[in-house]
Amino acid sequence: MTSEPFIPYGRQIIDDDDLQAVADVLQGDWLTTGPKVGEFEKAFAEYVEAPHAVAVNSGTAALHLAMLAAGVGEGDEVIVSSLTFVASANAAVYVGATVVFADIDPRTWTIDHTHVRSLVTDRTKAIVAVDYAGAPCDLGPLRDIADEFALVLIEDACHAPGAVYQGRRIGSIADFTAFSFHPVKHITTGEGGMVTTLTGEHDRALRTFRSHGIATDFRSREASGTWEYDQVALGYNYRIPDITCALGITQLGKQGAWLDRRRQIAVAYGEAFAGVPNLETQHVEDDRTSAWHLYPVRIIGENAASMRASVFSELRDQGIGVNVHYRPVYEHSYYRDRGYESGLCPNAEAVYSGLLSLPMWPGLTDSEQDRVIHALIQALVKARNGQP
Ligand SMILES: Cc1ncc(COP(=O)(O)O)c(C=O)c1O
Repeated sequence: MTSEPFIPYGRQIIDDDDLQAVADVLQGDWLTTGPKVGEFEKAFAEYVEAPHAVAVNSGTAALHLAMLAAGVGEGDEVIVSSLTFVASANAAVYVGATVVFADIDPRTWTIDHTHVRSLVTDRTKAIVAVDYAGAPCDLGPLRDIADEFALVLIEDACHAPGAVYQGRRIGSIADFTAFSFHPVKHITTGEGGMVTTLTGEHDRALRTFRSHGIATDFRSREASGTWEYDQVALGYNYRIPDITCALGITQLGKQGAWLDRRRQIAVAYGEAFAGVPNLETQHVEDDRTSAWHLYPVRIIGENAASMRASVFSELRDQGIGVNVHYRPVYEHSYYRDRGYESGLCPNAEAVYSGLLSLPMWPGLTDSEQDRVIHALIQALVKARNGQP
């Protein structure tokens, strides 16, 4: 154990302007379904260069709405990246579809498009590609597969606001792109999310499913002086309050500077770990820019799993908040109980066995980062020598 201050792997930054923006809404007329929702949607759409953005109350809701608006349902298959948070796959299960897990590329740790292509059947309806740790997946070939087989391309970019693929912002490329504003993400609304989409038709469908399947909202009925509304589909209450959208707007204003700092931290980690035995970092292809939500490293070697366990404990004992992202989704009990077995995605399983996420957030100081680097290198030496 250490007396040094704890370094979290990620956390929110809340400034006075954030507090003031929330207080202003609390003192106003609209706590929800008011003007801040549209303002946040407009600012976010501009940021990711998407034609449409729909704000919701979580990244999970964003993924579920994308499934609904894409018309995914019973009898459909959805190909999902195996190295991700469970929500990426659960969204397909919510709508009654069958999840088919795709493996990852062993260098970039994002979905392997050649495996995706081999998994397409006449029941496939959609692909969920995940920008793992903030690194854009290879959207060009994925778009080609989607177009060739008339599939919907859904991108889980909960790690990737501000990331760029071949000169285009993530959020402006896939049919639907989902973002999360959970406190460890780039910007926060406490809980919250956003779906961006390319067409007006999909935008309307997302808005309808967001609010019970009712096509008009309370404010538009107020404006047109009518009490009439019609439920046209089975939707949900996935609305996000104005209170938290106000926070989202002020947070988004700081995203550029925060992203620069994340990139600086990533460069320093990359330089420090180059050539360190038993350690690999995520490869980001030259045609894309990561948003570095996480900084994952992979411990490699014959005893990677046991080395990872000992490095994890050592760093935690030293007050360094390392984490692991992620156990392949189908290895969770819920999916195992439904017949998914180990061995489905060998690369995801191999990479997972050595994964470790290091502290990565804009508030991490240079001296804290030095502490993390030093501690990791020492812990690796110890683990390699089999010391407790
Ligand atoms: C890749 C990925 N997808 C989806 C989600 C779900 O987002 P939320 O927690 O906002 O529902 C997360 C959040 O952890 C995530 O990391």
